[in-house]
Amino acid sequence: MISIDEFLDELQRLQTDAETAFGAATSDDVLEAARIEFLGAKSGRFKAVQKQLGQISGADKPVAGQNLNRVKNAIQEAFDSAKSRSSSQSMRGELDPQFDRTLPGANVKVGRVHPITQTIEELIDIMGRLGFSPVFGPEVEDERHNFEALNIPDDHPARDPLENFYLSVAGKQGSGDKLLRSQTSTVQIRTMETTQPPIRVISLGRVYRPDTADPTHYPMFHQMEGLMVDRGVTLATLKTVLQLFATNYLGSSVPIRIRPSFFPFTEPSVEADYFWNGRWVEFGGAGIVDPNVFRAVGYDPDEFTGFAFGLGVERLCMIRHGITDIRDMYTNDVRFLRQF
Ligand code: DAH
Repeated sequence: MISIDEFLDELQRLQTDAETAFGAATSDDVLEAARIEFLGAKSGRFKAVQKQLGQISGADKPVAGQNLNRVKNAIQEAFDSAKSRSSSQSMRGELDPQFDRTLPGANVKVGRVHPITQTIEELIDIMGRLGFSPVFGPEVEDERHNFEALNIPDDHPARDPLENFYLSVAGKQGSGDKLLRSQTSTVQIRTMETTQPPIRVISLGRVYRPDTADPTHYPMFHQMEGLMVDRGVTLATLKTVLQLFATNYLGSSVPIRIRPSFFPFTEPSVEADYFWNGRWVEFGGAGIVDPNVFRAVGYDPDEFTGFAFGLGVERLCMIRHGITDIRDMYTNDVRFLRQF
């Protein structure tokens, strides 16, 4: 037999010990060990005291039972609050003695936009202010859009398999083959096929030519194509647009000059240069859209005139940043790319 006083003392000790142990637990492991010690289902200390209930005299049993329940709830509560404190603390790392919350965070290395993409975004922005909308075309093209509708005849050297990435094994020109587009002029045709004048668009994207890589050549590069079609568009309109473009892109008033040239899809055709850092720099090709191109897309050449131009994006990017080797742009060396 155990007296009720002894039993109540025992309960009180149990409660005090348990609350102390749970309150002092400094890690999940220590807390779990304390839970097993006090609340363990088989041999926990609470269980042991509970077993003594059978040795209490019948008259004292109700009091003993009530107190047993009260202490059980108190111990459980002490455990629950220790548990929730510990999980919120360990989430913040407060229980890890190695963790110094005052140290600066690890430096996350954020990537950046490739210089070519940066340039493209800027070109779209500048030309947008001149009223030109960006349009895009496929990189795998057919001969109609890459050549025929652009007034480039079957026997033109630009269609030579050695100058192009034809996608069939034989690479027979004039066979309705697909090829990787060699110029963004393709998008002029795609735009005019689906839109009526007036047109003011630019098309930016990759073009492909089987050139050996050297400081100024790469088998893949980017062009910006411009096309404006309306009534009364002249070479003066073209020159003005190029002048405004160069001045906006390079940041000060930039003189422009045009020289006679030849492209199958423009007549007359010109090469445009801009004056920068004391010398004339080649801009790209341009001209007044050839009537045959208008006929190929169903426009009336007596009603509309237009200009077109094609510029190399890499060249614009390189001149701006003083990059001297186009290959640096595609080696993906982060020490290079990080500079832009
Ligand atoms: N497509 C030409 C090239 O790849 C560039 C070009 C020249 C585009 C004259 C034009 C143009 O729109 O009018 O070399």
